[in-house]
Amino acid sequence: MNSHDVVLIPGDGIGPEVTDAASRVLEAAGAPVRFQVHHAGLAALDRGDEVLPESTVDAIRHCGVALKGPCTTPVGEGFTSVNVQLRQKLNLFAAVRPVRNLDGVSTRFDDVDLVIIRENTEGLYSGVENQVTPDVVMSMKVATETACDRIARWSFRFATRRQRKKITVFHKANIMKITDGLFLRCARHVHQTEYPNIEYEEVIIDAGCMKLVQDPSQFDVLLLENLYGDVVSDLCAGLVGGLGVVPGANIGEELAVFEAVHGSAPDIAGQGVANPLAVTMSSVMMLNHIAESQDDPVCRDASSRIKSGYNQTLSDGCLTGDLGGELDTAGFVNALVERIEASDS
Ligand code: NAI
Repeated sequence: MNSHDVVLIPGDGIGPEVTDAASRVLEAAGAPVRFQVHHAGLAALDRGDEVLPESTVDAIRHCGVALKGPCTTPVGEGFTSVNVQLRQKLNLFAAVRPVRNLDGVSTRFDDVDLVIIRENTEGLYSGVENQVTPDVVMSMKVATETACDRIARWSFRFATRRQRKKITVFHKANIMKITDGLFLRCARHVHQTEYPNIEYEEVIIDAGCMKLVQDPSQFDVLLLENLYGDVVSDLCAGLVGGLGVVPGANIGEELAVFEAVHGSAPDIAGQGVANPLAVTMSSVMMLNHIAESQDDPVCRDASSRIKSGYNQTLSDGCLTGDLGGELDTAGFVNALVERIEASDS
């Protein structure tokens, strides 16, 4: 059987716990992947390396695909986010975060089926910050036509392939007329000239957030610049059960890094209670990506076995603490692996 080399970055905090769990699940489902472990973040610093070692970046360039645990970023001081650096270095310009209700996870809503697409390389995450005078600091929001056009094009192509009906851009072009104005202009142009059949709307982000928490079913694909996409991803996670259940992918022209939306959760790290589902779901997205890009039906099969397995596990009421259940990380993985293996017999 053909095996695919994939970089595994365990990450920091709960990262190693949840990526270990996802590895067990992939193995139980017979996923044809061979992990090469490389480090980034505090885990790399602890090993006496750079925060984002060149060897990790090169390994992803070589393998083309990575599964990544979250990496801690110090707040208000210290090094630049490894996550932001990685996305910029590898030009992983589209963050894709599907947000859906899951059987067995009850929330205020039962009809959430959204995909968030976040521009991943610029905006206020460009890292252009400086101290103008001792008491004046500034941060630059960068938007380029190349990146705005690229993410708009990618989003409409994605929507078409996935039979999605509508793209909504959340923006603040009433205030940031030039930067958000450019983002809107590019999306509008791609819609009008190439994808008139996909419904398109523009919503000012503050009202958009209100609409999201009132009735998320009115949205389909959300397209946002970097900071808005980051914030709205967590808001949407809250609609379907929290950060433990929302996966993600960072996609470029040739490379892809799969990771949950959540961070390293220092408040619960080391306790063995983190929900490994978001990273496991990210690994399902990874298998689908390999299946599509390399035409591998074995990856497709493993991905659907994991997906049916976690749907069954959740429907049977096997839930981790964050979802109101009593299972710890290992307990949830055991329950999931049991169901995947039972589907063999
Ligand atoms: P966080 O996502 O780590 O945690 C927010 C809350 O959600 C915490 O109460 C945490 O316990 C809970 N939570 C998150 N994931 C969970 C899981 N799988 N199971 C159960 N509960 C879970 O966000 P926070 O606290 O803002 O950030 C912590 C660190 O993570 C920071 O250093 C931040 O920069 C980093 N971060 C890294 C990301 C990445 O690597 N892609 C993404 C987001 C944050």
